Amino acid sequence: MPGTTSAFTEIARSRRSPRQFLPTTLSPSDIYGVLEDAQTAPSNSNTQPWSVHVVSGAARDALAKELLLAEEDGRTSPDFTDGYGDGLYLERSRALGASVYRARGVERSDRDGRRAAVRENLEFYGAPHAAFLFMPALGDGVRAAGDTGMYAQNFLLSLAPGGLAGIPQTVLGVYADTVREFLGVPAELKLLSLRSCTSKRVMVSSRGSLGQGNGLAPWMTCHPEAGVPVKRCWTPSPRSVTKAVRPVSSSATRCP
Ligand SMILES: Cc1cc2nc3c(=O)[nH]c(=O)nc-3n(C[C@H](O)[C@H](O)[C@H](O)COP(=O)(O)O)c2cc1C
Repeated sequence: MPGTTSAFTEIARSRRSPRQFLPTTLSPSDIYGVLEDAQTAPSNSNTQPWSVHVVSGAARDALAKELLLAEEDGRTSPDFTDGYGDGLYLERSRALGASVYRARGVERSDRDGRRAAVRENLEFYGAPHAAFLFMPALGDGVRAAGDTGMYAQNFLLSLAPGGLAGIPQTVLGVYADTVREFLGVPAELKLLSLRSCTSKRVMVSSRGSLGQGNGLAPWMTCHPEAGVPVKRCWTPSPRSVTKAVRPVSSSATRCP
């Protein structure tokens, strides 16, 4: 009933984007569980255009290193434009930035401090797992981005009951080529400027002044260690297993 509280109400209203994480790792089955929840997202014509790459352990550390190097070298390669215009959205964005820097004790005039805060993004805020979401370049991208956003929100909300949390990170999309090269992702898949990490939350950032499948190639790829062949697997959606299509790659296996 609208207006009544429920377990979902609690989950939705308590979700926040933490910017610091414990080093506690999740088991593969915990991660698969979150991905299976995410996979139930609706999509335009059931196209399920998302694909997700999860990095953990040495692969996570190596990718963070690559991202920090790309930042130092100024090797930016965003797939999508950014900007908030010069009105309300810019104001909100600035208010959020001020709130995040204030929480770290960083002054607006402190360029080094602000850069260090940005670089924490590239180290996934210390989270031991990071999930990269890609989408195909279809038309103007709006539909696929909307679908992938639905997937991403399922992903985030699925973490909450286990006492976990994640944060979407546009800034990772600024280094899309670095990420693609590291993960072996083809250029036609675009890094939707969104990525989440998972771990127990230890600090929640301020929200600022704004109170407030069906088994069609549902790809996930796990990268446990740098230099080790990645594990590709697929998860047929429980909603329509009969329609599940195995991915083209013969090396793919069903997720445990
Ligand atoms: C698509 C998207 C991209 C985001 N990118 C970043 C990011 O790069 N870095 C960051 O620290 N927070 C990022 N955020 C987190 C937002 O700042 C945060 O969701 C917003 O301030 C509201 O706070 P809450 O999630 O705690 O409710 C992003 C959020 C979304 C939805």
